[in-house]
Amino acid sequence: MKQETTVFRTAGLVKIGIGVLAELADEVKRLGGTKVLIVTDKGVADAGLVDKVAEPLKVAGIPSDVFDGVEPEPPIACAESALAVLKEGGHDLLIGVGGGSSMDVTKVVSLIATNEPDPRPYFGIDLIPRPGLPKILVPTTSGTGSEVTAVAILTDTEQSLKRGIVSPYMFADVALVDAEMMCTMPPKVTAATGMDALIHAVEAIVSVRSNSISDSLGIHAVELIARNLRTAFENGGDTTARLAMATASTMAGMAFANSSCCAVHALAYPLGGEYHMPHGVANTLMLAPVMEYNRPVCKAELARVAEAMGEVEISAKSAVRAMIKLAKDVEMPLHLKEFGIAEEDVPRLAESAAKVTRLLDVNPRRPTQEDIAMIYRAAL
Ligand SMILES: NC(=O)c1ccc[n+]([C@@H]2O[C@H](COP(=O)([O-])OP(=O)(O)OC[C@H]3O[C@@H](n4cnc5c(N)ncnc54)[C@H](O)[C@@H]3O)[C@@H](O)[C@H]2O)c1
Ligand SMILES: [Fe+2]
Repeated sequence: MKQETTVFRTAGLVKIGIGVLAELADEVKRLGGTKVLIVTDKGVADAGLVDKVAEPLKVAGIPSDVFDGVEPEPPIACAESALAVLKEGGHDLLIGVGGGSSMDVTKVVSLIATNEPDPRPYFGIDLIPRPGLPKILVPTTSGTGSEVTAVAILTDTEQSLKRGIVSPYMFADVALVDAEMMCTMPPKVTAATGMDALIHAVEAIVSVRSNSISDSLGIHAVELIARNLRTAFENGGDTTARLAMATASTMAGMAFANSSCCAVHALAYPLGGEYHMPHGVANTLMLAPVMEYNRPVCKAELARVAEAMGEVEISAKSAVRAMIKLAKDVEMPLHLKEFGIAEEDVPRLAESAAKVTRLLDVNPRRPTQEDIAMIYRAAL
């Protein structure tokens, strides 16, 4: 344990299970919602998941509209378009249905509905003056953990960089984590989002902000992911594996929301912003090189990860090996070259990543811009 004072915050209410979505209308009523805006993307809507949310609202006599214009790694403009729909429709409660992209846009819209309509001044930590509209988050990936975190990430297309808004007002009032909503996830999305969850757990454990609560959530999440990601990838309809992954991703979200993500996420940001690769893919590419860089200063923490992953050899080295074996088993790309990124791109990427001080400052080893360039080279 590295901190003397432990603070723990999470969503107002968290329900995880199979079929917990049945409680949606009751939760809307409890929060005083009279007209709901469902925020999602077209992929989630095409998978039939928006109907699963809209139907119980209709039965309960709660009017709702759908904004399905969220894009992956959403640009700021997505939140602005959703806000226009909300202002026009006079909705008083938001339901975010989807992966991190839809949930993050929901969180931002909830806040810009009651604060200034331009989210740009709010990038950073604790810069939002007022709470937002009530929000319920229903994740369909497992995943980002956004349903229990105080951050929303948008892509600043002017700077080709992903940027975060962090505020306690970002927490969902209710997180309904229903494993049935995840069974339609294609294997590639299962793999990328599952690796993202693993990385959240591990970064929360190695961060200088780790504490007993985040550690225990992180370690148990690693255990569940090591045991269940392969099955969820191979057989998406396996509700037992899906429930384990849903539980793990929410726990990993709680872990990093109360500790931090660190350099893996910082170095992945420019890849997402510039090359538009999925968040989990960008993180997985940076996982081994960053953990190799971190290894000398967090041997004990990584050894615990190795143990949680069921390794026979309990060491930091075997933890990194086990994480990469898992990534390979779920067919994740592991080299920047596979995306056409070469040596000449390294200085630009390093300059961009060096600006993500929010995450670099809490990494167990503070990398300089030169270190960051070296880490990118190791990932080529
Ligand atoms: N706020 C946070 O705490 C936090 C943490 C990590 C990542 N993020 C952000 O979250 C975003 C990534 O979210 P993501 O990885 O969940 O992906 P995503 O939300 O972009 O979804 C990926 C794709 O999967 C599809 N999809 C999602 N669920 C599905 C389902 N059940 N069935 C069929 N298709 C489905 C979507 O339509 C989309 O095309 C990034 O912008 C990232 O920066 C946020
Ligand atoms: Fe992440």
